[in-house]
Amino acid sequence: MNKIPEHVAIILDGNGRWARSKGMPRNYGHTMGAKNVETICRACHNMGIRYLTVYAFSTENWTRPDDEVKAIMKLLRHYLKTCFTLARDNDMCVKVLGDISRLDEDMRETILRLEEETKDYGGLHFQIALNYGSRDEMLRAVRSLVADRESGKITGEIDEQVFVSYLDTKGIPDPDLLIRTSGEQRLSNFLLWQCAYTEFYFTDVHWPAFDEKELEKAVKSYGERNRRYGGI
Ligand code: IPE
Ligand code: IPE
Ligand code: MG
Repeated sequence: MNKIPEHVAIILDGNGRWARSKGMPRNYGHTMGAKNVETICRACHNMGIRYLTVYAFSTENWTRPDDEVKAIMKLLRHYLKTCFTLARDNDMCVKVLGDISRLDEDMRETILRLEEETKDYGGLHFQIALNYGSRDEMLRAVRSLVADRESGKITGEIDEQVFVSYLDTKGIPDPDLLIRTSGEQRLSNFLLWQCAYTEFYFTDVHWPAFDEKELEKAVKSYGERNRRYGGI
């Protein structure tokens, strides 16, 4: 395979539809979807992809029925705990994107510990977007920027470099390839700033069924693209 994207971002969509297609409750889809994240982490690591970012829970997903939100949070809590071993085994540095202040305290603690304990692993940089919304991220960035300007912490011109240093994705290169599973062709408030020149790949395959072979197809499609960045 030629031309491997450095950073792959994935909108994990279709857990509910996948479960329904099997005559199972939506939450079963979330369980199997969470399992699949592990599979794809390993696959990325094997393929030499350096950065993987997954959209796990959006700022809008709180509007779902209470029992579904509770079930997803329970799964995420469990997933974050198993992530320590996954990170160690796969040399993964883990970061959470999004506003974690709305999460329960024990989850916030696990996240901070996970980020701290894995910060020196350099094989795969793995970002989980959790209570993430791109508009929220940009607003939070602007608010801290204004506060730092008022306190004199930053002076001089506010250019792109300064602005991106206030985003949750600070220090992470923009995605080269964005994958969305399950047929929908929209960003749903994911990485709006960062995806300015990202290549998009949409597939009808639901997230729990998106395996290494499907990832290879997406990467192959990426390899055939001609990125021009506004040039000729
Ligand atoms: C993605 O699957 C998981 C989350 C958004 C949390 P969905 O739950 O959106 O599944 P569909 O799109 O309803 O099938
Ligand atoms: C996007 O999926 C959010 C995540 C995958 C976390 P949704 O299922 O929430 O998006 P819409 O509602 O179809 O746009
Ligand atoms: Mg969905």
